[in-house]
Amino acid sequence: PFHIEDFKREMIAGIKEKVGDKQVVCGVSGGVDSTVLAVLLKEAGVNMRAIFVDHGLLRKDEGDEVRSNFHRMGVEIETIECSGLFLSELEGEGDPETKRKIIGNLFVDVFWEAVGDAQMLAQGTLYPDVIESASNEKSKASVIKTHHNRVQRILDLQEQGKVLEPLAELFKDEVRELGASLGIPADILNRHPFPGPGLAVRCPGVVDEKRLRIIRECDNIFISRLKDHGWYDKVWQAYACLVPVKTVGVKGDERSYEWAINLRAVVSEDAMTADWVELPYQILRETSHRILNEVDGINRVLYDVSTKPPASIEWE
Ligand code: XMP
Repeated sequence: PFHIEDFKREMIAGIKEKVGDKQVVCGVSGGVDSTVLAVLLKEAGVNMRAIFVDHGLLRKDEGDEVRSNFHRMGVEIETIECSGLFLSELEGEGDPETKRKIIGNLFVDVFWEAVGDAQMLAQGTLYPDVIESASNEKSKASVIKTHHNRVQRILDLQEQGKVLEPLAELFKDEVRELGASLGIPADILNRHPFPGPGLAVRCPGVVDEKRLRIIRECDNIFISRLKDHGWYDKVWQAYACLVPVKTVGVKGDERSYEWAINLRAVVSEDAMTADWVELPYQILRETSHRILNEVDGINRVLYDVSTKPPASIEWE
């Protein structure tokens, strides 16, 4: 049986031994894995820098929320604010794979520049990630191609024993258990997963400030309705994404011609398959009512009833 307290003690001792008085850098996103990692490093008393890259594709007030969460846990983080850079590089680009590549490459560049000449790097790699990258040589090769120099740097550090991956033997639920035993509040441990490329994959086609604002406002309304009705923790992931198709409506006594917003809520075990959730109509009704009354640019609200497969969880 898995005894979290013993495991935690061993982990902390192992980290102390491996790190000594070297400085360790880790990236944090506000997600569960990197949060548990950062708190574990703090608990081990190592000299640490936690770097948070704000690429401007985050949800409403997410940067502030992440900073206040870490503050609550006594971990100091450095924010690299570069939303202008990401938005300008994405300008006019509508192809999903190209968008992902632009974001992924920029992210790696920005992060490594902030890292400078770090003595050690810590990553929140979990056991399923280890399995996946071992069995997925083909996609690894293409990633290595695009990120060549940076990935080479990780490999070099790895060879020198300078990459720390303390969570690499754990599954997600064990990471949550570890997080709880480190005193991380439940609302942080129960956050829904959020994709690395952020709202860009919830904004089909081109990304710009106006579209991001609409997505943020609608998403915020939907999530707040789920939380108020006690449904946030019952679903695996929920969000709003833009459907950039204009349709005709009436607002006030004028004809409107505006985009639609799509609400999606799914349950899943491992993100490989997913089912849509039979949310109470009251939640959908309140969400729709508020979006149609409060969000400029939207005159239609849709609910996504697609399973994965054949649909994916995100729209891109
Ligand atoms: P899909 O859309 O492929 O998503 O059904 C499955 C899960 O993975 C998340 N996702 C990502 N997470 N980087 C991430 O860290 C990504 O590029 C990425 N793309 C999708 C998605 O939110 C869902 O939980």
